[in-house]
Amino acid sequence: MNVNDFEMIARLLKERSGLLLGQDKAYLLESRLNPVARQYNFKGFDELAQAIRLGKDENLLADVTEAMTTNESFFFRDSKPFDQFRDLVLPHLLEHRGSRKSIKVWCAACSSGQEPYSLAMILKENEARLAGWKIEILATDISREMLVKGKEGRYSQFEVQRGLPINLMVKYFKQDGDRWQIEDAIRRMVTFKPFNLLDDPSAIGRCDVVFCRNVLIYLDQTTKAKVLARIAKLMPPDGFLYLGGAETVLGISDDFKLIPGHRGVYGLAGDVGDAMATAVG
Ligand SMILES: C[S@@+](CC[C@H](N)C(=O)[O-])C[C@H]1O[C@@H](n2cnc3c(N)ncnc32)[C@H](O)[C@@H]1O
Repeated sequence: MNVNDFEMIARLLKERSGLLLGQDKAYLLESRLNPVARQYNFKGFDELAQAIRLGKDENLLADVTEAMTTNESFFFRDSKPFDQFRDLVLPHLLEHRGSRKSIKVWCAACSSGQEPYSLAMILKENEARLAGWKIEILATDISREMLVKGKEGRYSQFEVQRGLPINLMVKYFKQDGDRWQIEDAIRRMVTFKPFNLLDDPSAIGRCDVVFCRNVLIYLDQTTKAKVLARIAKLMPPDGFLYLGGAETVLGISDDFKLIPGHRGVYGLAGDVGDAMATAVG
């Protein structure tokens, strides 16, 4: 691949998904895009690059963008955030949303569904306390392929062995050939929709909890700041934001404050957020 093609494709990816791709990732670009070239019957990478440069085929541009996303995910990833959700956040919401009896959680980069389904299983395990409550779990991602997989809720042996406690696997999954199908009761708790984090999320509406984990790491600082500012606008003053283990708001956003002692869990800055952080921290 020549430098011009690399720069042209890197620019496209940054525009379409916010992905920041350094020159050292040229090998990654080529290895991820070669299957797209084959899928479109191009003779090779050069022909693919030419078609991208022409910019006429929207499907091709979307496929190229998707091919460059990293979709790694697993159930109860890093475990602690999910323990915190169950032990701190859920009790807080039960106490403070009593008059509305509704909770909305947004998984803003849900990949193949393990994250929203992990939350759905926690909420299902607590259904006695949530009787009469309206629970919404919105799961969005830029990748159409991942959204299809998430909606299906079918996972390989390897995927169900990663992070999923055995009791929950037995309770909520059924083996079907070499796949494990998540039970309908859990599947129905999650709504999957396409959403690009570069777009304005105001139509998503108020979210009590936002999981935006392991996606900001791929974006440049300006885009991270924009995404965080827009998420902050959707959250009530005592809302919660979860980021991935390698992500932080430090130096990027003043809207959020780490909840002391809880890595990766943030509240909104301000009096209510501070009081909430002290209460749950
Ligand atoms: C590494 S996965 C993280 C999945 C899950 N949140 C977790 O922590 O396990 C990152 C996801 O972000 C999605 N993504 C990347 N850029 C995006 C964007 N601009 N808008 C929405 N989703 C995006 C990718 O498609 C991918 O599924």
